[in-house]
Amino acid sequence: MNVLVLGAGGREHAIAWKISNSRILNKLFCLPGNPGTASIATNLAGSLSDFSQIKQAIIDNQINLVVVGPEVPLVAGITDYLAYELPEVKVIGPSKQGAMLEGSKEFAKAFMLRHYIPTAQYACFTKDSIEEAFAFMQTLKSPYVLKADGLAAGKGVLIIDSIDEAKEQLKGIFDGQFGAAGDKVVIEQFLSGIEMSAFVLTDGKDYLLLPEAKDYKRIGNGDTGLNTGGMGSVSPVYFANEEFMSKVTERIIKPTIAGIAAENIDYKGFIFFGLINCGGEPYVIEYNVRMGDPETESVMTRISSDFLEHLIACAEGRLSKEEFTISDNAAVSIIMASGGYPEHYESGFLIDGLNTKGGMVFHCGTKASPDGIVSAGGRVLAVTANAKDIATAREDAYDLLGNIYFNDCYYRDDIACDLLQDED
Ligand code: AMP
Ligand code: GLY
Repeated sequence: MNVLVLGAGGREHAIAWKISNSRILNKLFCLPGNPGTASIATNLAGSLSDFSQIKQAIIDNQINLVVVGPEVPLVAGITDYLAYELPEVKVIGPSKQGAMLEGSKEFAKAFMLRHYIPTAQYACFTKDSIEEAFAFMQTLKSPYVLKADGLAAGKGVLIIDSIDEAKEQLKGIFDGQFGAAGDKVVIEQFLSGIEMSAFVLTDGKDYLLLPEAKDYKRIGNGDTGLNTGGMGSVSPVYFANEEFMSKVTERIIKPTIAGIAAENIDYKGFIFFGLINCGGEPYVIEYNVRMGDPETESVMTRISSDFLEHLIACAEGRLSKEEFTISDNAAVSIIMASGGYPEHYESGFLIDGLNTKGGMVFHCGTKASPDGIVSAGGRVLAVTANAKDIATAREDAYDLLGNIYFNDCYYRDDIACDLLQDED
């Protein structure tokens, strides 16, 4: 089995790492990959927006299975393109229609409404209905949640306390603040609670529930400061106990997959349920049609069965829970970022200590240079450890991180701290 992973971040490095341990793997490729994936796979040059280049890479390297990492090519229809051009190649990633669960907030909300899946109350507006939008806001309590309908690189959600400010921002979105992604805006009820991420691999009929995780979105310790792509992750999440997860399964996961089947949506891939626990009751904040980053860097280390076998079974529409196992261990992943991220930061700093043993160092934003591997992004590395419990995994991950250095690096000190007391 020759496998191609599409993408270039820490998520793709972690997926590739997991696949690289499979006993049925022949050759592993990443496109474009990064210096981390280069140590376990062959990186192929190419762009995720150039589907014909990807097709050629698949032909040239006799690829049997493609795993699509990020959402953008899925929403742009790479799965449909490959199904048409190379029908014998298996693809992990939903069809363009399935990818709308992430690509259009309005589609996702209407889907949840049709299938009675718990989510915040909402309404959707366009520039022409801005007066109705203002009237709808009057019926809600502060804070106001505004969501650009389309993909906006994780920046399309605004949560605003003052109604006047929310109205101004809504005008700004309709005036193009998020480009075409903001032609429609979903306005919804604010839900208060703790968030977590649940993941399934589904063939559109059956599913495997992957380990759940929690990510840390804010830049600063104690969840303060600006939102980021995620500054760390931990798995398992103790409030996701049996009782809570059985509500998630019965009220959210099963109805979502039944809805996909009932609507004849071709879906073979991951669903990432962004959930919020409101007083013990789960609600869907959002669907993503890919794995989370940096959640994947923790999640992959806890899957103990052969992940590639599950991926193939999924692509062939014959998923079975029997062979699937998750370890009782815990994982913690800490992002080392460039100082200044998520605002202005500098890149190109040489990274020391990458070969330190004691965990996994997944590459998020790095580049090879004549001197060695250098930083090349806001989020640079996901330093990850897996151990018998969260406290040990956390200690191991920070120990490992202590041996890695680049100029101006920044990380949070408190990843997984909030889950430690639950462990006692
Ligand atoms: P999204 O891109 O939909 O995941 O939204 C980004 C973040 O905004 C989420 O992770 C939540 O922290 C927050 N958020 C989104 N929708 C709501 C809501 N209805 N109530 C409270 N927080 C929300
Ligand atoms: N960590 C959240 C995401 O991948 O969207």
